Amino acid sequence: METIIPVKLPENSYKIVIKPGSLSVIGDYLTPLKLGQKILLVSNPEIFNFYGETVVNSLTQNGFEVFIHLIPAGEQFKTLSQIEKVYDSALTHRLERSSTLLALGGGVIGDMTGFAAATWLRGLNFIQVPTSLLAMVDASVGGKTGVNHPLGKNLIGAFYQPKLVLIDPEVLTTLPEREFRAGMAEVIKYGVIWDDNLFAQLEQCDRLSSFSDLTPELLQTILTRSCQAKADVVGQDEKESGLRAILNYGHTIGHAVESLTGYSLVNHGEAVAIGMEVAGAIAVKLNLWNCMDAKKQNQLIVKTGLPTQIPTGVKIEDIINSLSSDKKVKAGKVRFILPTKIGEVLITSEVSNDLIREVLTENSNYSIFC
Ligand code: GLY
Repeated sequence: METIIPVKLPENSYKIVIKPGSLSVIGDYLTPLKLGQKILLVSNPEIFNFYGETVVNSLTQNGFEVFIHLIPAGEQFKTLSQIEKVYDSALTHRLERSSTLLALGGGVIGDMTGFAAATWLRGLNFIQVPTSLLAMVDASVGGKTGVNHPLGKNLIGAFYQPKLVLIDPEVLTTLPEREFRAGMAEVIKYGVIWDDNLFAQLEQCDRLSSFSDLTPELLQTILTRSCQAKADVVGQDEKESGLRAILNYGHTIGHAVESLTGYSLVNHGEAVAIGMEVAGAIAVKLNLWNCMDAKKQNQLIVKTGLPTQIPTGVKIEDIINSLSSDKKVKAGKVRFILPTKIGEVLITSEVSNDLIREVLTENSNYSIFC
């Protein structure tokens, strides 16, 4: 079962390949891309332990010369000083413009490797091999690369597209369940913002909270429809001058929750789930969205084992203050992505702080609305 999704861009189009078992034959996918001989594989120690040998063996069999650079796991290492160490490796191994940086890992590794690839020698080839569900359906596609600044996440970065995204769903067997659920938040997001069919298929599942709940066919469908949604959106607006902002559905409140809980208590996907719940409730209050659809979204989030409530201890006024410092603020106004029906959203800056306060106080209690 191999699915190929083209990401069609004005320049630098590429393919997403989704195929179980593809990691062990990754060299076969890279050879036709006519890359130079040298590949610097960037990963973290844990992921490299699981999959490094498989990848290196296949690349070597296909005539590539492979070097390894490991970055410790964790968001706290997504820094410019770690990027300098990647540059050191690139220098040590005498990488040239025709050489390739290959990211084997989750979103942090993909974002960092892409940024190093964008900037070393003004641009090396870049390959994405995502190993988390979140990276498969979101971070690896679309060319957002970067690192954190001490004052904010992903403030330093570049749009830099990979030459290929290779997804082997079998690697999800080693993904911790909490990380799997975090990725499912982005999958639900695609259902709400773009693909009502995906939403309906998720609704039909009895269980969705762990990798073992999904048949290989359903997993392939989830990956395919999510990546297709992202490819469609990025294909229409690569640099986020308009439409691409819809991918931030749930992220406005989500980022505030992440930052106010120190990026540790609540992970990104959990924060997005809470953010979708709040955005859905705001849309209902504004008469943009049918309450029953908001309830369906809530049921899907709950079935996936994701949170829907603002964590205790996080103050409503702190959330409101934090919104104004978010990257999504435009001309001083906080932008919200709000659903109008399953599969469609709009972008608006017309949500008052009073309404946000009201919804956060009611804590998305749908029995109040419906
Ligand atoms: N993760 C949102 C985007 O790629 O635009």
